[in-house]
This record gives sequence, structure tokens and C-alpha cells, in this order.
Amino acid sequence: MFLWHYLLTLLLLIAVRICQAERCEEFTDLDFSHAFIGTNLKIRLLLYTRENVTCGTLVSHTDLSSHPQFNLSRTTTFIIHGYRPTGSPPVWFKNFTELLLAKEDMNVIVVDWNYGAANVNYFKAVENTHLAANNLTAFIQIMEEHGASLSSIYLIGVSLGAHISGFIGANLNGSIGRITALDPAGPQFTGNPPEGRLDPTDAQFVDVLHTDIDALGFREPLGHIDFYANGGTDQPGCPKTIFSGSSYFKCDHQRSVKLFLNSLDRTCTSRAFPCSSYKDFLDGKCLNCERFGAAGCPVFGYDVTQWRDVLLSLGQTKTYFSTNKVCPYCMTSYRLEVMIWNQDSRWGYITAKLHGNGKEAVATIDHRATQFKKFTETKLFAQFDKDLQSVQKMSLKFSNGNVLKPKYKLRVLRIRLTHLERKRGLSVDMMFFSR
Ligand SMILES: *[C@@H]1O[C@H](CO)[C@@H](O)[C@H](O)[C@H]1NC(C)=O
Ligand SMILES: *[C@@H]1O[C@H](CO)[C@@H](O)[C@H](O)[C@H]1NC(C)=O
Ligand SMILES: *[C@@H]1O[C@H](CO)[C@@H](O)[C@H](O)[C@H]1NC(C)=O
Ligand SMILES: *[C@@H]1O[C@H](CO)[C@@H](O)[C@H](O)[C@H]1NC(C)=O
Ligand SMILES: *[C@@H]1O[C@H](CO)[C@@H](O)[C@H](O)[C@H]1NC(C)=O
Repeated sequence: MFLWHYLLTLLLLIAVRICQAERCEEFTDLDFSHAFIGTNLKIRLLLYTRENVTCGTLVSHTDLSSHPQFNLSRTTTFIIHGYRPTGSPPVWFKNFTELLLAKEDMNVIVVDWNYGAANVNYFKAVENTHLAANNLTAFIQIMEEHGASLSSIYLIGVSLGAHISGFIGANLNGSIGRITALDPAGPQFTGNPPEGRLDPTDAQFVDVLHTDIDALGFREPLGHIDFYANGGTDQPGCPKTIFSGSSYFKCDHQRSVKLFLNSLDRTCTSRAFPCSSYKDFLDGKCLNCERFGAAGCPVFGYDVTQWRDVLLSLGQTKTYFSTNKVCPYCMTSYRLEVMIWNQDSRWGYITAKLHGNGKEAVATIDHRATQFKKFTETKLFAQFDKDLQSVQKMSLKFSNGNVLKPKYKLRVLRIRLTHLERKRGLSVDMMFFSR
């Protein structure tokens, strides 16, 4: 009788353990009523590993020994979200963890500070960034005591989360390995001294993406490399008027996460060019990548660490790249040289189409009118929406951008198209005459 009792208890205990192990923790789901009343800061750490990439484990802030899958010899990536005015969980964090784990065998910790970030009062959420940073610093120090090296700590911060990452990094004297900031928040941070915001001394390497510098994001460079996608202000495909509802406010800002996710799934890459302004970039004045040696200009996203040493030696680098409206966001850059034989010079816009293997890629060069002069090579920077591996045909459309003006023909003498990355492999050189 006694033995049976004992065995039964044991079985029950085992069953409880198994059930516990299978229980997946979810991100805190709040609603607008919480945000309206305001929430107090609470930090939950959800651990994801390759053992089960979709099932989160709630990690203790003090007792790491209860999580055998939390292997501190590996990189630990913290994903830190931003302001949550409605209290809903971020829609993107599952994709984020899955893609990170597909890329590398690491620990991914989703920092859930929804209690604290969900507040109609933005200033409260801003206040909480300092408290959250101190709390996470204490956790990282415990990881360090258990054998983790600070170099293996990687923080990815979105919006307010970018500044939280900066504060953690500053608390740890800049020794953590890397911070990636995705459209760091501007309001309440713009104009702050370095200790009141993210800055390049916060980690060994700091890379920053800007997508909404004229509204929710931060305008000035904050890292060793700063990427300004489409100039950093308006993202293609995002609504331009307030009549589109809430997406008018957040579309540009949220694009930063989508662009980074796109960089993780390896379908394509976005080369970013160092330049002092977006206008110069579009004019093709910044295509020189010599300072980066054989690697060429840095590629935006997760893999930019390949350029880490050269970027550190350069101090701070501001770069630009353009994207499509939808995923895959990457564009393919060509240099397009056009020579005409019209008597008078011509001003206008070019749309170029490449055809190959039944596919079509389009580049529209319309940020300003270009001047074409007789027997003079006009160099254009053409960014196509797709990368065609082989180009069989090209067509050009010339327009003066005004239906009221007389129509002109561009009498093209020569066109040269050079892929900026596969310079030798795929340059199309054409000679033709038109009447
Ligand atoms: C961090 O926050 C969690 C929950 O919000 C709390 O349990 C923990 O004690 C805090 N850690 C420190 C060092 O304050
Ligand atoms: C991961 O966890 C989910 C949810 O508990 C479960 O359905 C799934 O089978 C697990 N996958 C693996 C590979 O263990
Ligand atoms: C922890 O990770 C390291 C590096 O990936 C690996 O060599 C080691 O076997 C892992 N330890 C455990 C207990 O899985
Ligand atoms: C997550 O990934 C799925 C499958 O690839 C995709 O359909 C979905 O749009 C992605 N969600 C986000 C928020 O990126
Ligand atoms: C950072 O530096 C300060 C001043 O040198 C020192 O007091 C503090 O202990 C250091 N902190 C860490 C985490 O190394």
C-alpha cells in the first residue's frame, strides 16, 4: 500500500514535470484599457533555442540553473521591443526568433516589457526605459557570473528598445558584443547627450537602421554604421496621408523590423553606400566602395559584422540604400550610361526595363530631371526592383514629365549598363542608332 502510494506520487511528479516542460510561455497580451489606465513595469524573459524554436520558456531573473537548454557558451540575442500604445504583442517577434535561430545556434531572449511599454502616456514608457535597462543589466551580470562573456551578448532594440539597449551597454561600459538598433525612437531622445540615448560607445559594435527620421525615429547617426533606408524618411508602399488611419503613423517606423527580417532570410541582399545625403546617393555620386576593399560596400542587416573591423577603423559611417515597396525589399544597382545625338540637350526622366528568362526588372529614375547632351555620356544610377541573373534585352522610356510640353525623342547613340557588383560578369554593352 505504502509502496503504491509512493510510486503514484512519483509518477504524478514526473507527469507534472513533463507538462511543465511542454508549456510554452507567450508574450503578454494586453489591450487598450490597460494602456489607457497605464501599466507598471514588469519584465519577462522568454527564452527560445533550437531545442524548440516556437516554444518560449520563461527564464528566472536569478536562477539560471533551472534552464539546462540556456547554454551560456553560445551567443545570447535579446530582442527588445518599443512603445506599445495598444498593449498588443508585436506581430513580428516569432518570425524574428525563428529566423535568428535558423541563422545561428544561439539563445534568443524576447524581452517582454509590455507592462511598462503599454501606456497612452508615452513619457511614462520613456521613463521605464531606464528602469528596464537597469533590470536587464542585472540579468546580464548574472549571466556573466555563470560564465557568459559580454562579447557574446547581442542586443536588438526596436524604437525605444534601441535606447534601452544603449543604456544597458553603457551600464556595462561598452563591453557587450553588438547592438542593432531598428529605427531608434526620436521623441524625447533627440538632442540628448550620449548618456541619454544610444551611442557608438555602448557596445563593441553598433549598427543602426533609420526608416522614419521625420516622425517617430531619430535623425542623427547613433552607431558605427547608420543605414538610412530610402533616405530614412518615407518608405515606399507606406501611406502618405492621414486618411489611411493608424498605419500612416507607424508604417515607416515598423518597416525597420521588416527590412531586418528580410536581411535574415537570405533571399537577397541590400548593398548600402556611404554618402553624405540621399540626394547625392540617388545621383550616383556615392558608388565608390574602395575603402572597403574586396568585400565592397557593406550589406545592410544581420551580416554587416563582416565589415566590423573596417567600420570601427572609420569611426562613424552614414550609408544609404533603396528598397522595394514589398518583400523582397532588396534592389539591384546598375550604372547606366546614355549618350545621345540630338542637336539640343534634353531634360527628362528615364524608366529602364530589363528582360531575361521571362522576367522583367524595372528601374525608375525620377528623383529629378536628368540632362542629356549631344555626344556626352550621361551617367545614371539605376536601381532595379529585381536581380535578373541574365539580361537579354533592355528597353528605355524617356519622358519629360509634363503632358503639356512637346514630346521629344531621345536619339540614343550608345547605352552601357554595368552591374555594380558583378562588374565583369554581366555588363551589357550596346551600340545602336535610332532615327
Ligand atoms: C527585474 O524585473 C523582474 C520582474 O519585473 C523582477 O522579478 C526582478 O527582481 C527584477 N530584477 C532586478 C535586479 O531588479
Ligand atoms: C515545440 O513546442 C510546440 C508547442 O508545445 C509543440 O507543439 C512542438 O511539437 C514542439 N516541437 C518540437 C520539435 O519539440
Ligand atoms: C554549449 O554550446 C557549446 C558551443 O556551441 C557546445 O560546444 C556545448 O556542447 C554546449 N553544451 C551543452 C551542455 O549542450
Ligand atoms: C512571418 O513569416 C510568415 C511566413 O514566412 C509570413 O507569411 C509573415 O508575413 C511574416 N510576418 C511578419 C510580421 O513578418
Ligand atoms: C564600469 O566602469 C566603472 C568606472 O570605471 C566601474 O565602477 C564599474 O564597475 C564598471 N562596470 C562594469 C560592469 O564593468
